[in-house]
Amino acid sequence: MKTKSNNWKVNLYNKKHAFVYQFGEELIELLDPKPDELILDLGCGSGQLTNEISKNGAHVVGIDSSKEMISDAKSNYPELDFQVKDASHFHFNKPFDAIFSNAVLHWVLDAENAILNMNKNLRSEGRLVLEFGGKGNVATIVNSLRKSLEKRGYLKNAKLKNWYFPSISEYTFLLEKNGFEVEYAHLYDRPTKLADNENGIKDWIEMFGSLFFVNVSEQSKIDILEEVQNNVKSSCFNDGKWVADYRRIRILAKKIA
Ligand code: BEZ
Repeated sequence: MKTKSNNWKVNLYNKKHAFVYQFGEELIELLDPKPDELILDLGCGSGQLTNEISKNGAHVVGIDSSKEMISDAKSNYPELDFQVKDASHFHFNKPFDAIFSNAVLHWVLDAENAILNMNKNLRSEGRLVLEFGGKGNVATIVNSLRKSLEKRGYLKNAKLKNWYFPSISEYTFLLEKNGFEVEYAHLYDRPTKLADNENGIKDWIEMFGSLFFVNVSEQSKIDILEEVQNNVKSSCFNDGKWVADYRRIRILAKKIA
């Protein structure tokens, strides 16, 4: 799922960034979907986890703001319900028993509005099962990228606020303020191997950080990608593989109001 441009490279995503949904399977255990429950998969991407959630009889609706992702999801799983909708503005007539979201909410900068909207679309005592980038997520890569942009005079790009990576206290405060009781919250390092052994960091930045390069010349972009990959090599290259310094925040909360 993404929020700012509709330029998802669906094939590249599925081929090289499949870890986005592969890691989500553990989160489904926390969700513990029951037969006949109505569950929303918020930011379903190409639908792999939506399909997993539906396997023991839950009715699942997958939403994503990317038309391309939804069309891929529909062709992968034609029997499931997928719809193009935005994470902070969706509305359904029937409230859900649970809302599940993996690797999406860091794209939603207005976190409080997203929480309010999830609350409105959940039944009383309905559960929220979320995982996304937490405080310090991909800091090695992104700090290095900001430095390389700044060094070349791209000061506005270097300051871009592209993602929301909260601490536990920040996010649980917002949940409690907006009608949820938090049952579980965990912030943890999840170093993530990237698929391409040669251009791992460069590919990652191109795939997820393209907004950093708005109005940056093509040559500067090539130089910056090269420089960042070299600069992070001592921390992000292990045993012949590129590894991104992911940190996740994982939440289980219940609607109380
Ligand atoms: C993440 O899954 O943590 C993530 C993905 C893309 C950009 C930033 C963070």
